[in-house]
Amino acid sequence: MRGAHITGWGSALPDKIVTNDDLALAMDTSDAWIRDRTGIQERRVGGTTAGLATEAAREALERAGCAPESIDLLILATTTPDQHVPATSAVVQHKLGLRCGAFDLNAACSGFAYALVTAHALIQGGGLDRILVIGCDTLSRITDWTDRGTAILFADGGGAVVLEATEHDAILGWDLGADGAAAKILECDIGGYLTMDGKEVFRRAVRAVVSSAENAMKVAGVTASDIDWFIPHQANIRIMHSAADKVGIPHDRVVNVLSYTGNNSAGTIPLGLATAANDGRIKPGDLLLLSGFGAGMTWASVVLRWQP
Ligand code: COA
Repeated sequence: MRGAHITGWGSALPDKIVTNDDLALAMDTSDAWIRDRTGIQERRVGGTTAGLATEAAREALERAGCAPESIDLLILATTTPDQHVPATSAVVQHKLGLRCGAFDLNAACSGFAYALVTAHALIQGGGLDRILVIGCDTLSRITDWTDRGTAILFADGGGAVVLEATEHDAILGWDLGADGAAAKILECDIGGYLTMDGKEVFRRAVRAVVSSAENAMKVAGVTASDIDWFIPHQANIRIMHSAADKVGIPHDRVVNVLSYTGNNSAGTIPLGLATAANDGRIKPGDLLLLSGFGAGMTWASVVLRWQP
């Protein structure tokens, strides 16, 4: 049966580091409070979505050994396009010298997992051979840097993978979901800033990740003890660990880049994936569980075998 696997990966973070102490100079907060309540020590801020997405994608293409003209489709998961028109994916497509179709996908912080599932389906049933999937956001541009309720969390960055056709499908199970009734708990009007009911987002995020992860594992025919690495959306270490506890995955199997990246929305999962693949934590044959949640609310999980 025709399937797909990841053959290349890359990531991009802006150079500028904003520490918790930097934030404490501008608002009533402290390094200790932010570390304790979120697990974030510093975050990266700056750049454009197109610029960071292009950088991450170049690295992924190079690692996969793919020429730009061999890519059949580009999907850019982002909730912070650089402009209303055109889609940021069109700009990235041109910067990379691709000759294929390109579209943006907005499922907020679940975007990368949504895009991976979409790309898999287009390879499996749509006849495409090679799809570039990017998750990238520049949340700093829609963050009110005087609001301690949100500014401590959000940041910029992204990651990318090349998904290629194979006879041995590596995508073993997935789950996608949304509940628009909760749209108001995390939102940003056009031209405005993110507003959030932090406690409600926290509560729903843990529930969504747990049930979505369990659904995807069930489809894949695996259990938590089979998972080598859990790569959840990086929003708050307490959400990540609480979800891992409920799913039954030990904390030392949870990939954490949040402490130095902050929450860059659709960028966090591919960033975590690329980081853990590059530093040798993820090994060929490992079983990975990716789980995202975010505004909408949306949630999405993918169980995949690492067989680059
Ligand atoms: N620095 C210092 N104190 C702060 C603070 C800050 N940045 N933000 C809030 N506080 C204060 C509050 O005013 C409150 O004080 P009080 O007890 O005197 O009223 C106290 O700290 C506790 O606030 P609370 O809002 O209950 O904190 P919390 O433990 O819920 O943590 C979040 C707040 C935002 C860190 C947490 O709710 C969270 O991470 N939620 C999920 C957000 C998220 O993941 N969003 C992205 C989804 S993709």
